[in-house]
Amino acid sequence: MGQVDCRIPPALIAVVGAGLMGHGIAQVFACAGHPVAVHDPATGALATVHRRVAVNLNRLGLSDEALERISVHARLEDALEGADFVFEAAPEEVELKRGLMESITTIASADAIVASNTSSMPVAVFSERAAGIWRVIGTHWWNPPYLIPLVEVVQGAETSAGTVARTMGLLSSVGKLPVHVRKDVPGFVANRLQHALWREAMSIVQHGICDAETVDLCVKNSFGLRLAVLGPLETADLGGLDLALNIHEQILPFIDRTPGPLPILRDKVAAGDLGMKTGRGFRTWTEAEASAAHARLAEHLVAALAARPPDTA
Ligand SMILES: NC(=O)c1ccc[n+]([C@@H]2O[C@H](COP(=O)([O-])OP(=O)(O)OC[C@H]3O[C@@H](n4cnc5c(N)ncnc54)[C@H](O)[C@@H]3O)[C@@H](O)[C@H]2O)c1
Repeated sequence: MGQVDCRIPPALIAVVGAGLMGHGIAQVFACAGHPVAVHDPATGALATVHRRVAVNLNRLGLSDEALERISVHARLEDALEGADFVFEAAPEEVELKRGLMESITTIASADAIVASNTSSMPVAVFSERAAGIWRVIGTHWWNPPYLIPLVEVVQGAETSAGTVARTMGLLSSVGKLPVHVRKDVPGFVANRLQHALWREAMSIVQHGICDAETVDLCVKNSFGLRLAVLGPLETADLGGLDLALNIHEQILPFIDRTPGPLPILRDKVAAGDLGMKTGRGFRTWTEAEASAAHARLAEHLVAALAARPPDTA
């Protein structure tokens, strides 16, 4: 008698938006054995998905057999056909995401889970016109998605517990570290922390306390070194909360609390100084320097992840 095959078939994944994040998210699922259907309205983005994933796999020394599980689709309807999970990774624009969520939730099957990779928007904001909001959720991946373990799983007020559990289960099964964000707040957990730091870093430069290079040197050669193995609250416990209290009494009144983006950031963007992509941001970048910085980051992430003590997460 033949054996009954009880294996669960791999979930069908759709990725909507094939830019920096979308192609990397597709790569994660394809490498884990899932068929992935990718849609992007830009033909250039769609045409280069396989090549970009191949380059990533090659850099990591991995086989490119996952490529055959990725299909690309010019029509959204075709990419969503039969999908169990949809990951939206289109540009961070409120109206675009609202329209796209409305289309995806209308076209996709009624029980498909629909996740947005928004970096900042609460579920309530991007799902305003979505159908079946109980299966809409935030999944905030980090760049590059195939190297950074964390995915913040953001539960909206109407997202069902089952949707959270299925999403966390899928992400764990492909080697990610999903964390459940229980309140639907802008910026979730990690981006609130990261951008609190960036505001103060920019404020220090704006006020002439030191230059941008010095800010980065300070972080990279002090608490930045510790952060991958001890989080800020573990570090606070390590140093003692009495010390933390004394320091907070002294310095919190002087930490920048401007409620919107700082003038130094607005001025640079208005001047077209957007960072590496324009050759100038807080510092100037030649193409070679920018490309070396990308390579340095990827190399560091691979080495740091391999070297982390197993109980770090
Ligand atoms: N870049 C990061 O480091 C990062 C990290 C985490 C989250 N995110 C978030 O991920 C999302 C995507 O960011 P990205 O950096 O990949 O942007 P990107 O600009 O690299 O890619 C966006 C892609 O979406 C496509 N697109 C435009 N309109 C579309 C539509 N109507 N339907 C489907 N696709 C459409 C574009 O053609 C492009 O290929 C944003 O919400 C962003 O905030 C970005």
